[in-house]
Amino acid sequence: MKPEINTAKPHAARVYDFYLGGKDHFAADRETGQALMRVVPTIRAAARENRAFLGRAVRFLVAEAGIRQFLDIGTGLPSANNVHEVAQGLVPSCRVVYVDNDPIVLAHARALLTSSPEGKTAYIQADLREPEKILDDRVTRQTLDFAQPIALMLVAVLHFVPDSDGPRRIVDTLLDALPSGSYFAASHVTPEHDPEGVGGLVRTYQASGLPAQARVAGDFADLAFRGLDMVDPGLVLVSEWRPDAQGVRPQASEVNWYGAIARKP
Ligand SMILES: C[S@@+](CC[C@H](N)C(=O)[O-])C[C@H]1O[C@@H](n2cnc3c(N)ncnc32)[C@H](O)[C@@H]1O
Repeated sequence: MKPEINTAKPHAARVYDFYLGGKDHFAADRETGQALMRVVPTIRAAARENRAFLGRAVRFLVAEAGIRQFLDIGTGLPSANNVHEVAQGLVPSCRVVYVDNDPIVLAHARALLTSSPEGKTAYIQADLREPEKILDDRVTRQTLDFAQPIALMLVAVLHFVPDSDGPRRIVDTLLDALPSGSYFAASHVTPEHDPEGVGGLVRTYQASGLPAQARVAGDFADLAFRGLDMVDPGLVLVSEWRPDAQGVRPQASEVNWYGAIARKP
């Protein structure tokens, strides 16, 4: 059965698309996006910094860490620099499984399935909170070789999994399935640099029916990267993770988003 697209209610993927200047959002998403921009006026620039981090992360993983396979959960709507485009732009044989629980992403998934002939991309509609289903899915198993290193990508999605949904178990289940030498890239909203604004952001998401929880650096590190070997420069603002340009960097209170990459020993 095809999942219903409910346009009356905001969805995280469409609100994020609105921030990034995409075109796949509806009035409810724009209203929530605008309410969020009132509490954190720099949210659009922050979303762009997060997206740029995602691109640099994939580039690092392919070019420096030798990764050829990706499990990207919380993919979002197709945008510039989707994981397979960056990865296959460097090594065409890279393989990617995309996962999102929003039916609108499924509706646009064709744009994620434009693999190079040497590689492979696949999309599954699934929920991060049910990691076993993602891991056991036939499509996942047909696309990725779990005997070889895989990069798990949870970029800007863990803050949609509050503590009440057991994020620790989710992360552990996913990482346990990956072989040694695999990598984990994640980013997460933090309240540390603008407690009032980000507090308002979380409350606005929750009031719109979207679960959300900001986490401080220590809690994010403990949730995502415990027992893994951090890649330099460690857990930093997404804008500070190996930035391309040396120019003026945004203030921490304008970004409010941490990112890191780690290796499974
Ligand atoms: C902010 S977007 C991030 C997109 C992309 N990873 C990036 O960083 O550019 C968050 C995405 O996570 C998805 N998402 C939120 N909760 C999810 C869940 N429980 N399972 C799967 N996807 C989820 C949303 O639908 C949305 O597409």
